[in-house]
Amino acid sequence: MAESNLHFHKHRISRQLKEDRNQQKSRVLWFTGLSGSGKSTVANATEKLLHDLDIHTYILDGDNVRMGLNKDLGFAPEDRTENIRRITEVSKLFADAGIIVLTAFISPYLDDRKSARKIIGDVDFIEIYVKADLSVCESRDPKGLYKKARAGEIKGFTGIDAPYEPPVNPEIVLETDRYSIIECAQFVVDYLLKNKIINK
Ligand code: ADX
Repeated sequence: MAESNLHFHKHRISRQLKEDRNQQKSRVLWFTGLSGSGKSTVANATEKLLHDLDIHTYILDGDNVRMGLNKDLGFAPEDRTENIRRITEVSKLFADAGIIVLTAFISPYLDDRKSARKIIGDVDFIEIYVKADLSVCESRDPKGLYKKARAGEIKGFTGIDAPYEPPVNPEIVLETDRYSIIECAQFVVDYLLKNKIINK
């Protein structure tokens, strides 16, 4: 690898200038949780609240990104790690563009999320644990995948025969089996207000 021949270019229009223009700060809202826990649903509801406040946002979502950028990746541990690594780098670019990015990936491994935090930066990385019991996720089964996993038609399904390592000290915990989607989304917005990340 000729990495030593690469030079990082500092852009003339800095992130700070972009944040100032947009009158907001950039952050990465990293939703993690089991399939069916409500990551995408809550991320979408949060985005709607932020959009209504004129905040610039973008959602990176498991299924969508896996149909495009990461369509070469499967669900073996090393593929999931690479999935999260690429999403981490893309999220960092979005943060650099002065916007709030919401990511909705299972991201089951502690180490991968730890790397994401390190690469994105402790200030910018806000880990949101979307918490729901496996039994609840399984009963929701929005895509019918738990049923297939139980029948042995999908191997290595998170929560069934592949691990999910819960966050140890997340910034936010959303219990989607206790609170409604809109309540959970409002918790996130309240956190952003309380921490002066948004001010509208
Ligand atoms: S991650 O583990 O690499 O973070 P990601 O969030 O991108 O996963 O994709 C998860 C989605 O892929 C699930 O919501 C589900 O729709 C689908 N999927 C297909 N196979 C699996 C599997 N073996 N384990 C988990 N999710 C799977």
